[in-house]
Amino acid sequence: MSVKSHICLLGLIILCSPFTGVTGETHVFSSSGENVTLACINALSGCTSTTWIYTKHSSSVTVELIMLGIKKNDTERAERLSLGSDCSLNIYKTTEDHGQYICQQYVNGQKSVTDAQVYLHVLHVSSSSTQTEIRSGSSVTLICQLLSYDNTCDSLLRIEDLQLFWVNQTGVNLLTDSRYQISASGLCIITLTTILLNEDSNTEWRCLAKMKNEIKTSASYSVKFKASTKPTIKPTSKITSSPTASLSPKQGKVFICPTFVCSVS
Ligand SMILES: *[C@@H]1O[C@H](CO)[C@@H](O)[C@H](O)[C@H]1NC(C)=O
Ligand SMILES: *[C@@H]1O[C@H](CO)[C@@H](O)[C@H](O)[C@H]1NC(C)=O
Ligand SMILES: *[C@@H]1O[C@H](CO)[C@@H](O)[C@H](O)[C@H]1NC(C)=O
Repeated sequence: MSVKSHICLLGLIILCSPFTGVTGETHVFSSSGENVTLACINALSGCTSTTWIYTKHSSSVTVELIMLGIKKNDTERAERLSLGSDCSLNIYKTTEDHGQYICQQYVNGQKSVTDAQVYLHVLHVSSSSTQTEIRSGSSVTLICQLLSYDNTCDSLLRIEDLQLFWVNQTGVNLLTDSRYQISASGLCIITLTTILLNEDSNTEWRCLAKMKNEIKTSASYSVKFKASTKPTIKPTSKITSSPTASLSPKQGKVFICPTFVCSVS
């Protein structure tokens, strides 16, 4: 075997090990705005030995969230965190909480059991257009991204058959619908681009994260046309560059409201 193939083999082992070999490693999927619970599978009773630490990316500083069963109040997200009676970590309304969480057990200052690692992936849907740019006849791009620790999402994509889809209200995958341009960059981002039609009022497009054909989480985006009043366009009205003037007409305005639909994985 050549040196090159040895390197390749080593690369494969490194790539695969987080998803196969290590015990006590789990992947949790959530959508933005959802409450999520991260289980501590190695917890000792009472939780007084439980410490939860968090790292957003390998280049980030690791922070202690819970120390020996007591929540640290000085972290940015402290008010959204709580420790469950089974020592699990509850996160209220996830935002950019993706990353690596490790549950550790310390007895008399010594680590007593193997760490339990939990990777939290958060699905986030957004629009490239601002509300005033969105109207019937305009193009809109919806961006669906699964935020993860480093490239763990990308690895799940390649190894664990994770897939992102855009579906309509009847659950039909829009990939083959010519009205939509769907593009996936392979980095856990999938975008949907379409020209808005009048009948898109109250239409909801949903992004799904599926793994091994099971829906892990989803997030949706819906278009709402404001109930139209009769147009009262004055023939003498002239175009001005005033920003308030461009915001004043009420007709034909479209509001895009993100709604989040969550499923427990
Ligand atoms: C999140 O938890 C809060 C407090 O327990 C609850 O009021 C809220 O309904 C939950 N939200 C969701 C989306 O489940
Ligand atoms: C965090 O705040 C709570 C309530 O304000 C307090 O009871 C607790 O002792 C504080 N914990 C730490 C570690 O300072
Ligand atoms: C969903 O998409 C399919 C295929 O493009 C279409 O036939 C169906 O009418 C759509 N359903 C809705 C509610 O838009």
